[in-house]
Amino acid sequence: MSEIARIEVGGKVYEYPVVEGTEGEKGIDILKFRADSGYITLDEGFGNTGSCRSAITFIDGGKGILRYRGIPIEQLAEKSSFVETSFLVIYGHLPNKEELKKFSMSLTQEAPLHENIHQNFNGFSTNGHPMAILSSMINAMSTYHPDLLEVDGDEQFYSAAVRLISKVRTIAAAAYRTSKGLPLNYPKKGSNYAKNFLELMFSNPHEQHVPSEEAIKALNLFLLLHADHEQNCSTSTVRMVASSGANMFTACSAGVCALWGPLHGGANMAVLQMLEDIEKNGVSVNDYVNRVKDKKSGIKLMGFGHRVYKNFDPRAKILQTAAKNLLDKMHIQDKKLEIAQELADIALHDEYFIERNLYPNVDFYSGLILSALNIPLDMFTVMFAIGRMPGWIANWKEVHDNKKGKISRPRQIYTGPTENDFIARDNR
Ligand code: SDX
Repeated sequence: MSEIARIEVGGKVYEYPVVEGTEGEKGIDILKFRADSGYITLDEGFGNTGSCRSAITFIDGGKGILRYRGIPIEQLAEKSSFVETSFLVIYGHLPNKEELKKFSMSLTQEAPLHENIHQNFNGFSTNGHPMAILSSMINAMSTYHPDLLEVDGDEQFYSAAVRLISKVRTIAAAAYRTSKGLPLNYPKKGSNYAKNFLELMFSNPHEQHVPSEEAIKALNLFLLLHADHEQNCSTSTVRMVASSGANMFTACSAGVCALWGPLHGGANMAVLQMLEDIEKNGVSVNDYVNRVKDKKSGIKLMGFGHRVYKNFDPRAKILQTAAKNLLDKMHIQDKKLEIAQELADIALHDEYFIERNLYPNVDFYSGLILSALNIPLDMFTVMFAIGRMPGWIANWKEVHDNKKGKISRPRQIYTGPTENDFIARDNR
């Protein structure tokens, strides 16, 4: 007999079924609550509200657990690649050799952009933010694939997914090159996903960029760790857009826009800016932490805290080690890594952060890796978007495939003026 929840309100008792997920997560299904009672529930920020059932990613914030399709992120980080993990996130199983070969080849094949798209980049101002260019160009790209706007069947879904995952990398590099007034590069056959991106970013007509193995490995890990993360702000945005029946390209373009904010994907840029400020202004880490604790300062310790993790973000642990290893291998002495580690050491032993369950999140160390790869600050959140593309596509697919799904349309508590009449202009 499944558990029943009882809500007593307005002198009546209403009963609703409790649903339980495969990891024992429980939720009260209040689908009929407003129809029954006339009340709605209010949960600003949705911290207590499940928007959907999903089989893609599981997070246990208390234990610092993250699994893609049940596989722990630590195992994927050690044994998998971004391309293989993208297939896992989208299709729900690790690809066999043939599937992986076909998927990799499709990504290579789809890397180039339609030649006319190159002209679009000339329409952006040279100091335009790459996130604005990325979200625009994802939609612009879809105009060259009108046949993929209505995904009907596995083949069309596959074509749209590989185009998005592959071309988002080419668009991102082109956005960077455009912002620097540099000629656009063309993808090369034979390079894997991460290597191709670095070649697209840093090659020039007179010299082909040859990324180091450690750079390729570090970027591959960065992208893999960002592949999905349950119902975060940008993924929920993708699902919201998908629920109206909108196509995969435009839903992912909306995901880019939601990701941009400094409280979300924009935090990786804000962390580097914070570390650079501390380094440049010679502020002691202790002083900085004290400013953060002083509410009046309005300063947050960027890269710290999380809506779900009330323990270490497992991705932060992996990225901390990866950042140190990369800097050592590249013989880079980056004071910002020391500052980051000192910040973390102090915060993790300070009551203010402990009582609020504030730990380093994915953004705290990721920027140090991007910095070591010479990726400019304003491209950091673009890198997050490239990594998150498979997760957005997988979530779009869950909504698209759910034939019983409904359009997302939340309610509200109205707090505006009660009824009043129009006043003629001469009487205002
Ligand atoms: C990502 O959702 C996801 O999964 C996102 C993500 C993904 O992979 O998609 O994991 C990626 O977005 C990671 C988060 C990156 N953002 C940042 O690093 C920005 C800094 N962090 C905060 O803005 C904040 O922690 C959030 C936005 C991440 C979470 O905010 P919540 O859950 O709404 O928590 P809150 O703002 O209610 O904070 C609770 C308390 C408050 O203090 P009190 O009012 O209780 O006294 O903690 C404080 C906050 O002021 N607090 C911080 C803090 N984060 C929260 N104080 C100082 N520094 C911080 N970073």
